This record gives sequence, structure tokens and C-alpha cells, in this order.
Amino acid sequence: MPVITNIEDLKRIYRRRVPKMFYDYAESGSWTEQTFRENTSDFDEIRLRQRVAVDMSGRSTATKMIGQDVTMPVALAPVGLTGMQCADGEIKAARAAEKFGVPFTLSTMSINSIEDVAEATTKPFWFQLYTMKDTDFLSRLIERAKAAKCSALVITLDLQILGQRHKDLKNGLSAPPKLTPATIANLMTKWSWGLGMLGAKRRNFGNIVGHATGVSDAANLGAWTAEQFDPTLDWGKIAKIKEMWGGPVILKGILDAEDAKMALQVGADAIIVSNHGGRQLDGAISSIRALPSILDAVGDEVEVHLDSGIRKGQDILKAVAMGAKGTYIGRSFVYGLGAMGEAGVTKALEVLHKEMDISMALCGRRTISDLDRTILMIPENFEGRWQ
Ligand SMILES: Cc1cc2nc3c(=O)[nH]c(=O)nc-3n(C[C@H](O)[C@H](O)[C@H](O)COP(=O)(O)O)c2cc1C
Repeated sequence: MPVITNIEDLKRIYRRRVPKMFYDYAESGSWTEQTFRENTSDFDEIRLRQRVAVDMSGRSTATKMIGQDVTMPVALAPVGLTGMQCADGEIKAARAAEKFGVPFTLSTMSINSIEDVAEATTKPFWFQLYTMKDTDFLSRLIERAKAAKCSALVITLDLQILGQRHKDLKNGLSAPPKLTPATIANLMTKWSWGLGMLGAKRRNFGNIVGHATGVSDAANLGAWTAEQFDPTLDWGKIAKIKEMWGGPVILKGILDAEDAKMALQVGADAIIVSNHGGRQLDGAISSIRALPSILDAVGDEVEVHLDSGIRKGQDILKAVAMGAKGTYIGRSFVYGLGAMGEAGVTKALEVLHKEMDISMALCGRRTISDLDRTILMIPENFEGRWQ
């Protein structure tokens, strides 16, 4: 067994084990992938201020996200097709998150259904909602999340229409994979993945197939999205969904201070500064670069979270020190899941936790509430002077 010390180690194993189609699906951004790349490289622009001779005993990374206790300010982001990265992937990731003490967010486009995950876990998880044209289906989805006792609804706002990811089109991404000569040749080199899939509870979209009427081809993500996602979504509809849900609502995909103010007006409990991991608007700024202006606009009035580009505990530390109350990891947990199943997700969380904890100590801080911008060295003009 190789010694795993960082998220990149998990990614290397993941790449060997998982079919190319699903590796490419996760490891890509839209169009030129500029935003995808800058999400990580912009974190590296910020430096940490080293402090010495500060008592670093009795440290804790524990805090709260939307009032819920978390072992560290990290949640698992909603990731579609997680159950294609590893058999029963959503169940495994949710269990790892529960044991570690961080929230798991189930995607609308998951393989395991809301009910599957509820049955396999003991604590409430969060449900991510894509808004659909089919309002009956939408309200049933919300009712199912309520029945499963999900403790927050994460409404994704940045995917009314799908950003193009070239590799998915070239690979003919589908769940389950369509058997073409190229996919068969690739699957023959991924026998442990294939064996797992033979015993998987599900191999297509568990929240949709058998629940949505008139869905012509749920096996194809692109077709389903183009056909069903609601292009007319606006703030009025978001307010109505919040009312239907009646519990905590987190609005995901905010990258602009004006939108953050609108989110505040519709009564969001938290917002996620996010560009969908660089998978939607290519050319948009990185989340970490967008964070300061959004915090300045609404940081005192609503909980501000961040995702996109987190691959190290130091990235979490930087976001939280800047003012985010929580962060989310997408690819970092997917790498672990594809590499080693539930144990791999646990490994990813352990790696990030250790990196964050030790770096926090080396900055001379012991708790999350001790963190502030004075531990950061932010380049002048980090946010950019855009016309
Ligand atoms: C493979 C993949 C699938 C995703 N599917 C969804 C989804 O179904 N719903 C959603 O709101 N966000 C989805 N996202 C975006 C993530 O929730 C999150 O915003 C992003 O992964 C954060 O960037 P990171 O991967 O660099 O951590 C997906 C991301 C990836 C990588």
C-alpha cells in the first residue's frame, strides 16, 4: 500500500482505478479551463504569516456551519454521478463524512437516491437541488428530502444551462457507460471498479429514474440537463422554493457582490461563493478572489461559505482566515473515493484536517475563532481592478 500524504497521492491512484470517462468528468473545467486552473493557482498567491513562541497546545478546528457542529469548517460538496466514481459512492462518501463529523451534500444528479443515503446513515445530510421545469417533480423532490430529514437545502444557481466540457462530449459521458469499443477497451483495464459496479445498488440517476414522468433518456446527463433544467429560474422562484422547503437554505454559485445582496433579500441562511469548480463560466474569477468583495457586501448579515479549488488544508485555512464560515470540497473527496472507496474519503478528510491544523498552529493560532486576516499576506490588488 503506498504511503498517502496528500490529495495528489489520492488523485494518482484514482486515475489508475476509475474509467477514463469518469476521471475526465471530474478532472475538467469548461472550455479553456482557465477558471478551473485559477481556482487552485489563486490560493497559492496568498501567503501565510508564520508566528513563533505561541503556546499551540489544546488546539481545535471544530466550529459550526449554519448552526450545525462540524469537526472542521468543511463540507462535502454535491457531486453528480458520485456513484459512478465508485460503486455506491454517495453512500460511502456520506458514511465517511458522518464518521468524521462534517456535512455531506447529496446532489440531485446522484446515483444513490435520497432514500438510499438516508437508510445508510444515522445523521441528517444536506440535499442539493437543481431546479427543474417539471414543477411536480421538483416539489416531490423537496418532499422526499424533507421525509429523509435532510437538515439543509442547497440550491444551485449557476447551472440553469450547462457549460461545455469538451472531454465529456468526446468521451460520450453517460451513466452507466455506453459500451463502445473505446469504453470496453478502457473498462478492461479497470477490473476492480467493474467488479464493484456489478454489486452496486444502482447504476443510473437514483433521484430521477422512476420518479420523473416523461424523462426520455436519464442516462445522458447533457440531454437531461438541456431538457429539464429550468432556464427561467429567478429570485422570485428561489424565494418560493425556500418557502416550500421551510428549513435552512444555502444558495450555491454566488460570485458577485450584487447577487450576494439578492441572496440576502430572499432570506438565505448561507451563500456559497462558488464558480462550480470552474465547470460553468470559463473566464469567471476564482472563488477565493471573489470572496473579499462578497464578505464586504454581506459578510455581517449572512454566513458566507466558499468552494472551488480546495486541495490542501492550507487553502481551507486561507478561506476561513479571510472570513468564510465554511468551505466545501468537491474533487478532493472524489479522488479519495475513486482511489479507495469510503476509506479514501476518510483519508482525504484526514489529510486536509492535518494540513489545516498544523498550519494553523504554525501561524500561532489555536482555534477557528482565533483566525482572521492578520495571518494572511494577500498581494496588493488581489481582487483585481477590473473595469
Ligand atoms: C464531477 C463534479 C460533479 C459536480 N456535480 C455537481 C452537482 O451535481 N451539483 C452541484 O451543485 N455542483 C456540482 N459540482 C460542483 C461542486 O459542488 C463544487 O462546487 C466544486 O466541485 C468545487 O470545486 P472543487 O472540485 O475544486 O472543490 C460538481 C463538481 C464536480 C467536480
